[in-house]
Amino acid sequence: MSNVHLVDHPLVQHKLTLMRRKDASTNSFRRLLNELSTLMAYEVTRDVAMSEIDIETPLEMTKGKVIDGKKLVFVSILRAGTGILDGMLNVVPGARVGHIGLYRDPKTLTAVEYYFKMPGDMHERDIVVVDPMLATGNSAVAAVERLKELSPKSIKFVCLLTCPEGIKTMQEAHPDVPIYTAAIDRQLNEHGYILPGLGDAGDRIFGTK
Ligand code: URA
Repeated sequence: MSNVHLVDHPLVQHKLTLMRRKDASTNSFRRLLNELSTLMAYEVTRDVAMSEIDIETPLEMTKGKVIDGKKLVFVSILRAGTGILDGMLNVVPGARVGHIGLYRDPKTLTAVEYYFKMPGDMHERDIVVVDPMLATGNSAVAAVERLKELSPKSIKFVCLLTCPEGIKTMQEAHPDVPIYTAAIDRQLNEHGYILPGLGDAGDRIFGTK
């Protein structure tokens, strides 16, 4: 599976296992997601562009490297993307943030857009799209399609869980977009949920069920 980065660091895997448990409380699910997303941010920003600046240590002048956080945009697919977004902003606090509101039509499982708000100058920016579950892939494909209209410099996609169906859909539509995930699960069920999965990510983050 070219262009799929499986983040198999033991800390990531440990936290994901705790999140999958059905008796994990909303509080602990949210905290774990926040921690795990911070770890995913390390992977997805590994090759981010840096610039060199002059600084003064207590002893002398020197040069140091910095990330231009303002060029990076995290785009959260509402509503579950918010959970990943918070964790990523812990380590890249200067990043800009965009939101895309998409809901899944329960009958067709296709994505319907209801909200779209991005920073300016998107053609100068590297985008990281975040959504915990790459399931059918329909929302991810629609989100990336919409973002490509703005001609950004690059787009990456970060999720916690995906499955072969989601990867296939995404790669057929957007083979140029790398996918970063903590696990590739077995399959989708007939309702578009990932198995074994972790249930409805939005409900588990916000305690709405
Ligand atoms: N969205 C979720 O929240 N969970 C799934 O398993 C699939 C899509």
